Amino acid sequence: MSDKRILVTGGLGYIGSHTVVCLQEAGFDVLVVDDCSNSSEKVLDGIAAISGKKPYFTKLDLRDKEATEAYFKSHSNIDGVIHFAASKAVGESVADPLKYYENNIGGLVYVLQACVKHQINNFIFSSSCTVYGEPDTLPIDESAPVKPAASPYGNTKQVGEEIILESCKAYGLQAISLRYFNPIGAHESAEIGELPIGVPQNLVPFITQTAAGLRKELEVFGDDYPTPDGSCIRDYIHVVDIAEAHMVALYRLLEQKNNSDYEVFNLGTGAGSSVFDIIKTFEKVSGQALPHKVSDRRAGDIISVYADTKKANEVLGWKARFNNEDALGSAWKWEQKIRSKS
Ligand code: UD1
Repeated sequence: MSDKRILVTGGLGYIGSHTVVCLQEAGFDVLVVDDCSNSSEKVLDGIAAISGKKPYFTKLDLRDKEATEAYFKSHSNIDGVIHFAASKAVGESVADPLKYYENNIGGLVYVLQACVKHQINNFIFSSSCTVYGEPDTLPIDESAPVKPAASPYGNTKQVGEEIILESCKAYGLQAISLRYFNPIGAHESAEIGELPIGVPQNLVPFITQTAAGLRKELEVFGDDYPTPDGSCIRDYIHVVDIAEAHMVALYRLLEQKNNSDYEVFNLGTGAGSSVFDIIKTFEKVSGQALPHKVSDRRAGDIISVYADTKKANEVLGWKARFNNEDALGSAWKWEQKIRSKS
């Protein structure tokens, strides 16, 4: 497969950069496009420090239809596309939905049009467990109904999946949507990781910034939910596991092992952890107490969600290798590395 050329959109982002490393280590020829709206070209150095090679990078805004088509025209022999490029802040999507529809849907449509035109038939899409909403049963498997989206961000993932499914039916595209649960952690080398802009909205970057002294204390959003310790439950999964799943999905398409033109897989560990579980594990791996207090529930939070991983394990042939200790340890190592540089 080392002769295969793969385009990774959003390849300088959090999950994209880890996937680029994974693909390069497996010998793929990797092209990266990114508009750098929520990432930095410095990530290329981090990737190269791990894999020994900078991927071929082009700054490209996929909302620009002509520029996107021109890119595909001038880069021949692309065998597959892994599409990460998207905006991902739930709160921002509520405040500015049109930004999300333009970027997450407009960009997706232009990339798919270029794939169809240039006969690139293998496509992997970055989806989310947010499509399930508040689950009726747990763990949640891929046959669970897609619920009305709670945010424009969530809606772009649902509509994105539908656009891809319909494109598979109409144009002979082969696609896989990967529904991530809660990606956390960083590459073990601490050369790449999550780089939140401003105050982190997600739990783990808020925890590591608090431990590093940038934030006073973590607020636990609610301890009166109907869960064993009262806090919400999620399926936290190491970003390197997520990256590896993209490569496994890519092989599945390239080797034509897919069961249908369009497939969906959950990417989770199958284990649910509460906010207090995560705090405890973080304290254990970092060796320090984490200042925290309980505050009000956050609007829109799901009580409990974790994956049924049977289909990913048995059909895709992928299983998470890491646990919360590994993931939180790597997130802490990464945070310390960023702080030592700044
Ligand atoms: C969120 C998004 C989801 C997206 C994912 C990306 C929502 C409703 N969902 O998931 O669509 O795919 O991020 O990673 O925003 N928490 C605290 N204190 C904090 C931050 C979080 O207690 O300062 C709690 C939350 O209430 C939640 C858990 O930690 O129970 C995880 O929160 P977060 O990391 O924001 O992820 P999700 O909300 O699950």
